[in-house]
Parts: sequence; C-alpha cells; structure tokens
Amino acid sequence: MNQKEFIEKLRYELKKSAATLATGHDIEHLQRVLKNGLLIAKKLRGIDKEILIASLLLHDADRSDEKRHAEKSAELAEKILSTMKIPKEKISIVKEAILHHSRSDVKSGNKSIYAQILYDADKIDGIGNEGIKRVEEIAKAKNWTKEYAAKWYLSRIIDVAKNEPLYLKHSKEIAKNKVMISLNWCKKILGKERFEKIIRESEFSSEKEVSECF
Ligand SMILES: [Fe+2]
Ligand SMILES: [Fe+2]
Repeated sequence: MNQKEFIEKLRYELKKSAATLATGHDIEHLQRVLKNGLLIAKKLRGIDKEILIASLLLHDADRSDEKRHAEKSAELAEKILSTMKIPKEKISIVKEAILHHSRSDVKSGNKSIYAQILYDADKIDGIGNEGIKRVEEIAKAKNWTKEYAAKWYLSRIIDVAKNEPLYLKHSKEIAKNKVMISLNWCKKILGKERFEKIIRESEFSSEKEVSECF
C-alpha cells in the first residue's frame, strides 16, 4: 500500500467506526494535523510513515468522552490498525503516541519521536488563521464575547509557551509566524494596553518572546 492508499484506507475505517466523528470539524482537524505532522517529519530521518500517519490521523478518533479521549482514541486506533494487519509493534508505538498527546500529560516522561511530532502538529493547528477560526467557533458555541475569547486564547498560548512548548526545532520554526498571527488577533480585540499588561503579568517581556518560546 502506498502512502496515499494508506491514508485513504485509514480515513475510510475512521468514518466507518467513529460515531463521534459526525461533525465535519473533527475530521478537518485530523486532516490538518496530518498535514502539519508530515511537514515536520520532512526534516527528520528514519521516520516510519505508517506509524506517523496513523498516529496523526487517529489521535482524536474517539471524542465521545472528552476527558478520556486520548485513551479512547488509542483503543480505537488499535482496533482499526489490527483489522488492517499492521504489525503489533507498530500499533503499540501509535497507541503510546496517541495516549500522550493531550495537554495534561505533557510532562510524563520520555516521548517517542512520533509522540513529539503528534504533540507539535496538534498544537500548531491551534495557532495562526486556522487556530483563530477554531477559537471563533468555540466562542460562538459557548456564547462568549469576543473579549472573553481573546483573553482565553491568549492565556492558552502563554501557557503552552511557558509550560508545555513544542518539542522539535522544525515545529518551532513552523509555529513562530502563526503564533504572531494569533497574538496580533488577541491584541486587536483586547487593545494594546490590556494585551501588554497580560503579557507582562505572565513574566514574558514581549509578545515576540512568547512566540519564540512556544
Ligand atoms: Fe486531542
Ligand atoms: Fe487534536
């Protein structure tokens, strides 16, 4: 199976088995994370494309239980990959990567290169124009004001930069401009003064420093 066929097959299996993928947004997020991850991996050697693609495309496969979605998605990934006769050793690497992709788990021990790429690719989808679009969607669904959404978004970006930054150098390069786009969006909504006050209170000296630490 070539790469394109493998992706098609995974998408087919995903649609078939994932009841919680009903909304278009989720599958679009998975596709974008796949794209980000493949881009990050271009600069790396010795990457097994099957492990990588499966980790990226299946990482949020089951969101029926938001809190346990990493665990649930890892289980579903195992099911899907087993039916595709993917070797057990590869499946266990995919499972590990998916299990450790969610925020609360960042500090837990050594991550495989696949887990690192997945984490970075997932975070990159949260910034730049796509990230802003997602925030606007969340704000609409939750009835937030634009100011509230911008404050929430800014605090999340600062949190990643401070506590759970991206792993790989190439990911950081891809992220840098996108973070600035997100920060500028927040600044426009909150106003320069309020925006800068929040940055200072977070112990960063400038928005540029936030983007460099992300
Ligand atoms: Fe997730
Ligand atoms: Fe995700």
